[in-house]
Amino acid sequence: MDVSGKKALVTGGGRGIGRGIVLAFARNGADVAVADINTADAASVAAEVGELGRRALSLDIDVTDQASVDEAVRKVMSEFGDIDILANNAGIIAAPGWEERDSSNESDWDMIYEVNVKGIVRVTEAVSPHMIERRYGKIVNIASGAGRQGSADNPPYNASKAAVISYTQSSAFELAPYNINVNAICPGLLWTPMWGRIASRTVLRRDDLAGLSPREAFEKIVRERIPLGREQTPDDIGHLAAFLASNVSQNITGQSINVNGGSRMN
Ligand SMILES: NC(=O)c1ccc[n+]([C@@H]2O[C@H](COP(=O)([O-])OP(=O)(O)OC[C@H]3O[C@@H](n4cnc5c(N)ncnc54)[C@H](O)[C@@H]3O)[C@@H](O)[C@H]2O)c1
Repeated sequence: MDVSGKKALVTGGGRGIGRGIVLAFARNGADVAVADINTADAASVAAEVGELGRRALSLDIDVTDQASVDEAVRKVMSEFGDIDILANNAGIIAAPGWEERDSSNESDWDMIYEVNVKGIVRVTEAVSPHMIERRYGKIVNIASGAGRQGSADNPPYNASKAAVISYTQSSAFELAPYNINVNAICPGLLWTPMWGRIASRTVLRRDDLAGLSPREAFEKIVRERIPLGREQTPDDIGHLAAFLASNVSQNITGQSINVNGGSRMN
């Protein structure tokens, strides 16, 4: 997992899984640009990188806005000189108000697609020319087990994550001639603010979860779905991201790898 001396950019790095990826990169020797739409969160995680003895950059980015993406990438290039590693992690579960809706609406489809799919495309297209020039790069996209198997719950999110898996394969083909590896991680169940939203909605819709707190409902769902019987953590995802960003994984590209305690074995 050695990424010593490498320069990394992590989108949505201000909390949850993104923070786990940032800290795993920093612990394994990389300097990290922490980019998030929530600037205060990005700054706080960047401070943690500094405490680990690595250079850190805190950036404001909205992955749905091309000008914001271009400006963030320009700042990383001007501060760090290079970008060796890109982790496309920023993602959303739904548009505001989804917790109260029985099914997804057009704003869910639009917002989810803008962030989860086009956001990854925008950042990849802004960063990859720099990687192509140096014939070196590692890109790690955060997909989901939801992208491997559809369900009645949240069709737009499931479809967006299937698109991430597909785009990972397409960009792996496109960028392979330039020594750039592109892989995806499919996390299982992690107690982040995102799962807080899912759990708040689920307790209202499953009779057997009525009366449970969102956290208690999450724990019950973990016991139901995960053979190993435990939730995944941002560190679990960070470890695999660091492995995929290091040179020991140089012959792995276009893959989507589960970190899910066995909940899906594909
Ligand atoms: N939590 C899980 O169980 C789980 C499972 C599978 C996949 N994932 C995926 O992992 C990734 C991270 O999820 P999480 O659980 O840490 O969620 P989270 O909501 O805790 O964190 C998401 C981060 O992305 C940032 N973000 C949101 N919209 C943005 C935008 N337009 N531009 C820039 N940053 C933006 C948020 O500010 C936040 O810091 C997402 O892509 C998610 O779909 C999560």
